[in-house]
Amino acid sequence: MSLVDSFEKIPVQIFADDKIASAHVAREIADLIRQKQKEGKPCVLGLATGSTPKTLYKELVALHRHQGLSFKNGITFNLDEYYPIEPNALQSYHRFMNTHLFDHIDIDKSNTHVPDGTIDKNDVRAYAATYEKKIELAGGIDYQVLGIGLNGHIGFNEPGSGRHSGTRLVALDNTTRLANAYEFTSIAQVPRLAITVGINTILKARKIVLLGWGIHKAPVIRKSVEGTVTDHVPASFLQEHPNCSFVLDEGAAQELTRFKTP
Ligand code: PGA
Repeated sequence: MSLVDSFEKIPVQIFADDKIASAHVAREIADLIRQKQKEGKPCVLGLATGSTPKTLYKELVALHRHQGLSFKNGITFNLDEYYPIEPNALQSYHRFMNTHLFDHIDIDKSNTHVPDGTIDKNDVRAYAATYEKKIELAGGIDYQVLGIGLNGHIGFNEPGSGRHSGTRLVALDNTTRLANAYEFTSIAQVPRLAITVGINTILKARKIVLLGWGIHKAPVIRKSVEGTVTDHVPASFLQEHPNCSFVLDEGAAQELTRFKTP
């Protein structure tokens, strides 16, 4: 067993920078979309927001524009949305997805899903169950893209989120509100709540790829890949998935034992 195998419990791919890494992931997604097209099937993508996947969406838009990649058989489900928030608000993840991806490709927008931040609080539970049902009816997620929070969150599953959690209303960690304050005028404007799919929802995807860029992510990447599985680091639950990989730039990989203790 190599040093890498003995410490790393999730396969890790490391690229020189986020652009090269994103191009690799975009090609993988494009191959899957085309394969599904040949089979006459939809391709169900689980999508993320935040600063991390922006480079991936740029690459996907480029593949559409310059290589004729069609998203007509695409069905998408986003991980999360602030609550409450109007879909056209500057910081809404509906708006984010339109701006960074959906407005620039040929996907049928009625096949795109982002949790609704305007649902009445009394109806959130039923809404969350419906969101899960829709994923199931679409055939389940073929390829789930994730980012990772500095506290190890995936989606908005903050530390303490259970392995079996489903889609639900959650309170955001203060560290998350601080990290996302740049999208708002001040931290006070960052919503305290969000709707997120659960850890269990994420783990049902047939393939999961977590993207991580920059040295600020390196400590939590190491904990997720090499540490014990714990709800203190929600991304560590990905160790239990049979087809998950982490795609990192060199900065995000630098705390891994293979680099720390060569
Ligand atoms: P970021 O956020 O991509 O803006 O770093 C990632 C996350 O919170 O999942």
